[in-house]
This record gives sequence, C-alpha cells and structure tokens, in this order.
Amino acid sequence: MKDKVLVPKNNKDHIILAIETSCDETSVAVIRGSREVLSNIVSSQIDIHKKYGGVVPEIASRHHLDNINMIIKEGMDTAGITFEEIDLIGVTCGPGLVGALLIGIAAAKALSYVLKVPIVGVHHIEGHICANYLEHADLKPPFLGLVVSGGHTHILDVLDYNNYNILGRTRDDAVGEAFDKVARVIGLGYPGGPLIDRLALSGDPEAISFPRIYLEHDSFDFSFSGIKTAVLNYINSEKQKNNAINKADVAASFQKAVMDVIIEKTCKAAKKAERDTVVVAGGVAANSFLRKMLKEKCGEMGIRVFFPSLDLCTDNAAMIGCAAYHNYMAGKVDNLYLDANPNLKL
Ligand code: KG4
Ligand code: ZN
Repeated sequence: MKDKVLVPKNNKDHIILAIETSCDETSVAVIRGSREVLSNIVSSQIDIHKKYGGVVPEIASRHHLDNINMIIKEGMDTAGITFEEIDLIGVTCGPGLVGALLIGIAAAKALSYVLKVPIVGVHHIEGHICANYLEHADLKPPFLGLVVSGGHTHILDVLDYNNYNILGRTRDDAVGEAFDKVARVIGLGYPGGPLIDRLALSGDPEAISFPRIYLEHDSFDFSFSGIKTAVLNYINSEKQKNNAINKADVAASFQKAVMDVIIEKTCKAAKKAERDTVVVAGGVAANSFLRKMLKEKCGEMGIRVFFPSLDLCTDNAAMIGCAAYHNYMAGKVDNLYLDANPNLKL
C-alpha cells in the first residue's frame, strides 16, 4: 500500500504530540506552535539501570514498550487535549539506541496513521538545541551552539532553525560519557554527571592537575577519553603510596579540567563565527560549574548565553515537539516508512 502524501499545513497554532524514547527516558509532550508547552511527561528508567552502572539497551526497550501508551495518555490528559485536536506527530528517529527509538517511532506511526496527521522524524540533538526556544522567547538563529550530552559534544554554528555548520566535535568520548566513567572510577553511582557536579562543590578544583586536551591549534574538536585514564592513574598511584583519596578534590579537579577546555573552545568559536549569542544544550548543560563559568567568560566578551532550565536540559519530548514544528514549517514531512537511525547525522 502506498502512503498518503501529507501536506504541511501552514498554521502557527497547530498542536503537536511529541515522543522521545532514544535512551532511558520515555517522554511524551503536547505543545502548541513552537513555544507553548501544554504537557511534558518524562518517565525515567534511571533507578532500573543504576544497578548495572549504565543503560542496558534491551531493558530500556522493554520498559519503553511497557510505558509508552500510559505516558501518551498522561501527556494528553495533562494537556487537556483530545486526539482529534492533534495536527502533527513529532518523534525522535535518531541517534540513540535502535530498539528504544523503534518503540517511540512505532507509537508515533500508529498515531499518525489512525489520526491521519503528518509525522515528522526529529534528530535528537536538534531537539536539545530547540529546548532553548521553548523558554527564551527572544531567541532565534543565528547563534553559536554548544551541545554537551551523554552521547554528543559538538560546537555548531546554528545558521537557521534547520541549518547547522559543525565547527567541532569530540573525536572519542562525549563529555557526559567522561563524567559517567569517572564517577564509576571514583565509586559514585549512575548517572555520574549530577553526582560529580554535587561532590565537586565541596572539593578544590586546583588540588590535582589533570591534563587539558586542546588538540591542534585552532581546532574546535575535543578528546575526553584520556582524562578518564588520567583519573584512574592518579587513584592507583595514590593507593600505592597509601594516601587517602579525596573524592571531592578528584571530582572538582576533573570537572574543571574538562570545562576549562569546553569553555575556552566555545568562546573562541563564537568569536571566529562572529556570533554574539551562545546557546548550550544537552544533559551536561545542567552542570553548575559550566553554567556559572561560561556565563562569566562570555559576559567578559559581551556575548549572551542561554541555557535551558534544568528540566529541559536532559531528554524530554517537549524539545522534540519544538524541533518537529520547525522541520514541518520548513516543509520536512516523513511518512509511515520512517525508520530509526541509531547513527543519524545532523
Ligand atoms: O542529554 P542527556 O539526557 O542524554 C543524552 O542525549 O545523552 O544527557 C545525559 C548525560 C549523562 O552523561 C549525565 O551524566 C550528564 O548528561 N549530566 C550531567 C549533569 N546532569 C546530567 N553532567 C554533568 N553535570 C550535570 N549536572
Ligand atoms: Zn539527549
């Protein structure tokens, strides 16, 4: 059977039902237009994956499957919207865990088919950037984007809502991944980012000199895999000397080493791209040291900085709805052949 061609409807008030299941959060949101969030339900599986020290893909898929219909109902009920009022379905189609993505996509396709409304597949990172439009009414491209999450570390020149020029990216681990790995090395739980952030508040960021990896002169790329080894080497050498390890100092010194590089490269990139606005997105945007220091450094350069509120930093469907809106308005519509792409490029 051939799919119906669904034509974009140029209505800025349309109601979007959005679904996000790329990792370990089952999330459903209803938004009106590009900025008004009517509901944003996030069901986290962190407590389930905690005991394994990280996300177990097969378990994540099963829980998405168990939860998705319930979360859709909760999203609709909270928004006070009927299915007949939905104009558009937005869903994360990549990157992410393939089995997890497929659950959200299957639900989105079923809704699109039954309700006879268009479906738009959304790039997860584009969603993270869009989280900022939901809260900052005066924000619009162009700007310099810094995406820092568990799977991505990118510096982007955001030319328009759907047009990005990648200036730099990590060559190995993502920054959130480095936080999670170092947290495991020093015996904290999962996810490590928020735990290191909290512990670092009582530590000395100058106590231990961990390496800052800048790569080639003028490169906006990152490398974070070495710092985990540096932390491991430090702990082993202190143990051999029978020295007590001050975990708070390790957390604070590691965090500063990573963020010094991120902040310096972001400010340099903003200057090079001649942008007066920096927009931060992704789970690591919740980091208190990054929020404080980037604002300070950019402030000195006369650059505005936007972060999403803490709730919108980590994975949620409202940001996917906003990205779906902008894709749809630019004429991007998918059909029932929409598939998950775990390695989807921006
Ligand atoms: O964006 P996100 O929810 O999922 C991905 O798309 O990856 O980001 C999750 C990542 C995890 O690595 C987590 O440890 C990190 O964000 N994270 C933080 C903080 N809160 C979450 N990292 C540093 N400081 C935080 N406060
Ligand atoms: Zn994410």
